[in-house]
Amino acid sequence: MRPPIDSKLPRVGTTIFTVMSRLAAEHGAINLSQGFPDFEPPGRLVDLVDGHLRRGGSNQYAPMAGMPRLREAIAGKVAAYYGCNVDPETAITVTSGGTEALFCAIQAFVGAGDEVILLDPAYDSYEPAVTLAGGRAVRVPMRRPHFSPDWERVRSALTQRTRLLVLNFPHNPSGAVLTADDLQVLAELLRDSPALVLADEVYEHMIFDGRRHHSLLTHAELAERSLVVSSFGKTCHATGWKVGYCVAPAALTAEFRKVHQFVQFAVATPLQAGIADFMAECPEHARELPAFYQSKRDRFAELLGETRFRLTPAASTYFQLADYSAVSDLPDVEFARWLTTQCGVAAIPISVFSAQPPAAERIVRFCFAKHEATLAAAALKLRNL
Ligand SMILES: Cc1ncc(COP(=O)(O)O)c(C=O)c1O
Repeated sequence: MRPPIDSKLPRVGTTIFTVMSRLAAEHGAINLSQGFPDFEPPGRLVDLVDGHLRRGGSNQYAPMAGMPRLREAIAGKVAAYYGCNVDPETAITVTSGGTEALFCAIQAFVGAGDEVILLDPAYDSYEPAVTLAGGRAVRVPMRRPHFSPDWERVRSALTQRTRLLVLNFPHNPSGAVLTADDLQVLAELLRDSPALVLADEVYEHMIFDGRRHHSLLTHAELAERSLVVSSFGKTCHATGWKVGYCVAPAALTAEFRKVHQFVQFAVATPLQAGIADFMAECPEHARELPAFYQSKRDRFAELLGETRFRLTPAASTYFQLADYSAVSDLPDVEFARWLTTQCGVAAIPISVFSAQPPAAERIVRFCFAKHEATLAAAALKLRNL
């Protein structure tokens, strides 16, 4: 008998990021689709990791929750940026990228029949994790044109079955950010709800024009019910290393770790040791990220100024949304394919992040975490449209 295969994720295919990067490679297109830098991590960080690899002593399993030195460095950073004290021993877990942290949080807290609110457009890993946990994703669209959270619709979506509200600010793909008022409204909204918050803050250090990132950790009442996720992949220009972490109160962390210890157990030791050293030695790296990425954003906007794409400068992240309605009336998935195969520049269609994308929306996402020459070469092609 041929064993039957009942897919647990029947509606899931290959992610759009893989699809577009593959298409870009096949057609020799400039890849501004998937979010990763085309430049290297800081040389000093690479040297520190290299030192740990070669010296020995850091090549076996790390502690399950993460190396104490790295957790202490993270606690120091959280105190410096968000003014709150978190205990590295009981509140911080190092994970295999933000993705693993998101997955473990969802598995730890979502059960059969639970509802999880996602704000659309939503990063693509959330819903499959909810489905695998037996839960149901409830999608709440963000408000156009600025992609701000629509708290009234969130309020209407909240039920006694809501176990988790997933937030992602700074927001991929729009670059939208939360305000202090948003946090206050959210705190009031959740006061009588059993829901936890899963805050995906992997772009916490890429925020522009003098804005501040309002982490859920800055709001004492919300922090009590939140799991906050970040990623060294983003902060250190090292997406391939897949090192991230989750900060949450001790009782939530205890449950989170029960899952983490059987999904990943421990994260690459030399990477953790090198990142811990780097955070101690070069704290200015994270402080300089806003200016570093803001100048890329501005340069990219300047280059695209000579095209028929319409941009509102991104407030955060390393993504820029571009309205292409003056170029084409194709729906965005078709347009992104056409752009890749015919124009030689790959982008991400943003409708794939939503359950019910607005039919008339003509927007793609470009990643500007690229060398000046890459952005200039892409703009040259886009100018022909
Ligand atoms: C919103 C968001 N969350 C999580 C991740 C995954 O982070 P990591 O690469 O650290 O797993 C990404 C990566 O693109 C992202 O954009």
